[in-house]
Amino acid sequence: MSRSARPPSHASFLGRARFSSGPIAHSAGNSPSKTGNRNKIGGPPPYGRVGVDAALAASSSSAAKPTLFEREFSLADRVALVTGGNRGLGLEMAMALAEAGAHAVYCVDLPEKASEEWTTVKEYLGRMQGKAGEGRLEYISADVRDQDRMWKIGEMIGDREGRMDVCVAAAGILKPHTDCLEYPAKQFQEVMSVNVNGVLFTAQAAGRQMDRFGNGGSIVLIASMSGTITNRDQHWVSYNSSKSAVKQMTRSMACELGPKRIRVNSLSPGYIYTSMTAAYFDKHPHLIEVMSKSSPLGRIGRPDELRGVVTWLASDASTFCTGSDILIDAGLHAW
Ligand SMILES: NC(=O)c1ccc[n+]([C@@H]2O[C@H](COP(=O)([O-])OP(=O)(O)OC[C@H]3O[C@@H](n4cnc5c(N)ncnc54)[C@H](O)[C@@H]3O)[C@@H](O)[C@H]2O)c1
Repeated sequence: MSRSARPPSHASFLGRARFSSGPIAHSAGNSPSKTGNRNKIGGPPPYGRVGVDAALAASSSSAAKPTLFEREFSLADRVALVTGGNRGLGLEMAMALAEAGAHAVYCVDLPEKASEEWTTVKEYLGRMQGKAGEGRLEYISADVRDQDRMWKIGEMIGDREGRMDVCVAAAGILKPHTDCLEYPAKQFQEVMSVNVNGVLFTAQAAGRQMDRFGNGGSIVLIASMSGTITNRDQHWVSYNSSKSAVKQMTRSMACELGPKRIRVNSLSPGYIYTSMTAAYFDKHPHLIEVMSKSSPLGRIGRPDELRGVVTWLASDASTFCTGSDILIDAGLHAW
């Protein structure tokens, strides 16, 4: 459906500007007398009244309405692409986006058919009450290493939905402990081609559509704390190098895409119990204790502990944030 053919959106009902993180010379929502020089070129773009501005503008007799969750954090009307969305952190984050009101969240992953877990989440979202949008999950089978296919998926979503607002590149792989001096070329290449090339192709697929529709957008690349620190006693040279590359890809893309109001940030989780880490923990159970003790909070994480941060990064609540890496690792990097 084309954008113009769509019924009035929840976002327009809220009077919310479409992504407005770039420099705009003029303010529609703020009175010049209150904002002074703020709205000159390079000043902050208008967003309408929220926070202190809303409080100061309200008459003492009008009702005071909270906006933080209904507006800044709301993804009402937004369309998202999430890779690795069939399970684990990708599915958890796809669900969070839908719950925050996204109109449609397209999950891309390898299996031909979506998992039972994914189907159950889709059905659960369908029954969820009081969510801001339709929260529709869609599943597409594809390999993120296939650039042509990823771009076509982006185009298909753009054609169908008339927009693209959010991208979460979560597909990734980890290979078993292998000494760096013996690391085989083929295995190194395998990790790089999913964790680096695949992340780039995903960001391109979504970013090209964000550029096409001109509303800006938010791209979240899933890196890892292993792109910043080295996991003690774990011989993961390919994984660690790939995640460092994702962090630099984030900064590079953020700088190129800032003028198009497309924000690019990376999210770097610490140890979280998912199928990826379970394969490791189940073989070496003592590692759960070792890894738990390695952080100030003294524990590993749950996938749901990324729901808040991904919604923040995807939404207007983070419109001044780009080119950043957000570490969510129980403080492990702080030792
Ligand atoms: N779990 C953790 O502790 C942890 C910590 C830091 C970073 N991460 C990162 O988070 C992301 C998700 O990890 P997870 O723990 O949910 O792992 P997971 O193995 O449960 O999920 C990864 C998903 O990516 C998909 N995938 C793999 N290769 C693909 C390809 N070529 N094309 C399309 N999809 C592909 C898999 O099928 C799987 O569904 C990964 O990038 C991982 O490196 C995980």
